[in-house]
Amino acid sequence: MRKLVLATDNKNKVNEIKDILSDLPIEILSKDEIGLEDLKVIEDGETLIDNSLKKAREISKYTDYLVVADDTGLFVEKLNGEPGVYSSRYAGEDGNDKKNVELLLKKLNGEESNAYFETVICLITEDKKEFIASGRCFGKVLTTVRGENGFGYDPIFQPDGFDKTFAELGSKQKNEISHRRKAIENLREILIKLLGDENENTCGK
Ligand code: IMP
Repeated sequence: MRKLVLATDNKNKVNEIKDILSDLPIEILSKDEIGLEDLKVIEDGETLIDNSLKKAREISKYTDYLVVADDTGLFVEKLNGEPGVYSSRYAGEDGNDKKNVELLLKKLNGEESNAYFETVICLITEDKKEFIASGRCFGKVLTTVRGENGFGYDPIFQPDGFDKTFAELGSKQKNEISHRRKAIENLREILIKLLGDENENTCGK
């Protein structure tokens, strides 16, 4: 069975990806499981694609398995797309989720704004071909925090079609509609095509 290494150490992300790809003939491994737990990649790119490619390429130097890396940002319309690729360190390198949310609300100055989360996933194959998958979840940023679940900007983000924030919805419902879910579904389509193409190419040989 083919093996696929994930760049993330985050157990929730690993489980979510394993779950969505569970019916494919691919064994999913975390980078710790192939002895790369000390490998840290600085995310200093200007786009989500830059960062996910950088992470995947770095890991792919050390393995010939499939490699997958992701990067996510929140893009707020009234702030011209901020915090975007800087979402995790919006309030500075020593910031945290609470400080990031506070800064965002301060910049919005009491106004709501349309916004979307975007996740980009980069896949590098055993023969170093690169593919990009992505997913977006549209909604709006509210003026105050609501809800206890989740992380990051979940307490201020209300997805379209819901009257609750991601932090009020809970992980099960959030994971059904999230940007990450859509990006992983897109990755799944790419992997299915890749597996299919290779079966076709080897047929009868
Ligand atoms: P990462 O690329 O998944 O590490 O995400 C970068 C940053 O975006 C995180 O530190 C969070 O601040 C934010 N973020 C990513 N995904 C979500 C989400 O699903 N909800 C809320 N915030 C998120």
